[in-house]
Amino acid sequence: MQKIINLAKKRLEDGNLVIFPTETVYGLGGDATNLRAIKKIYNLKKRPLENPLICHFKNIKEIKENFEINSLDNEIIKKFCPGPLTIILKKRKKCKIHASVSNNLNYIGCRIPKNKIAINILKSVNFPIAAPSANISTKISPTQTNHISKKLKDNTLIINGGKSLLGLESTVVKTSKNKILILRLGSISIEEIRRKIPNKDIEIKNLNQKVSPGNQKKHYAPNLPIRINVTKVLKNEGLLNFGKNNMKSNICEYNLSSKGSLKEASKNFFNFLYLIDNNKLCKGIAVAPIPSQDLGKTINDRLKRASYKK
Ligand code: TXA
Ligand code: MG
Repeated sequence: MQKIINLAKKRLEDGNLVIFPTETVYGLGGDATNLRAIKKIYNLKKRPLENPLICHFKNIKEIKENFEINSLDNEIIKKFCPGPLTIILKKRKKCKIHASVSNNLNYIGCRIPKNKIAINILKSVNFPIAAPSANISTKISPTQTNHISKKLKDNTLIINGGKSLLGLESTVVKTSKNKILILRLGSISIEEIRRKIPNKDIEIKNLNQKVSPGNQKKHYAPNLPIRINVTKVLKNEGLLNFGKNNMKSNICEYNLSSKGSLKEASKNFFNFLYLIDNNKLCKGIAVAPIPSQDLGKTINDRLKRASYKK
């Protein structure tokens, strides 16, 4: 393990990119203080420059050195970091993050991942790591290294940490006065935030591109067309099922969770989409209804974007 961490450190210090595991999805990481590395991330991912990158930190101290934090930010950070949460914070004057990470915005998405390999890499270097999900823009996020596209594989060092523990990206939040705004639904449900931080207003921002530029209408999309909330599967469709029902596919079926667990469904979500998408016999993907509560809200958000037609 130490050997591969040293290799990652060397790559990152040279301004190159490393794909590393986190508890949510794999990240395509580069030195957040180095313009050359940031440019490589945007180019490789084919990501529009106005969509800012999340920065990953090794600990809370490093975040506090670089950003202004109000008391609600502090409470959120204490409850959810390290973990699958990204909090948007205002840069201090002395902030080390390069302006290109956030398209010159004064606010940056900050996250401390809860994954041993990720933390060891972050500890090995003396800069934060900018890392979007390791997919080509608008495609599905990788939760295993075999999901990573050839173009990304050929241009990076990949560190294999097995299957992502949670399987959905981090929840992106921002505070506004005494309110918690949710800018992207993710691996921490609104219900969990409400439980851990009671008595605070939580507002799901109309999840559009303006507030959080990554909320494109089309995103997280497999190559095959997707139909959601189906009750009947068509002849050439693979089935992404949930819970118990009578639906059948002639070609292939993956059940996100036959016992109806949304946590299990989250973990399987991108992998099962990937498997159906790569089945040569499938011409489309039919998705069973998923309850819109807890992590089901995040899954439905991803499905809505994945099935978006212009
Ligand atoms: O779980 C995750 O968050 C993964 C792992 C690798 O950490 N990363 C990830 O990054 O999903 P990415 O770039 O694919 O998604 C980041 C989201 C985007 O929707 C982006 O628009 C939003 O966070 N975001 C980042 N910086 C922002 C900022 N300064 N203001 C508003 N939204 C921001
Ligand atoms: Mg992404």
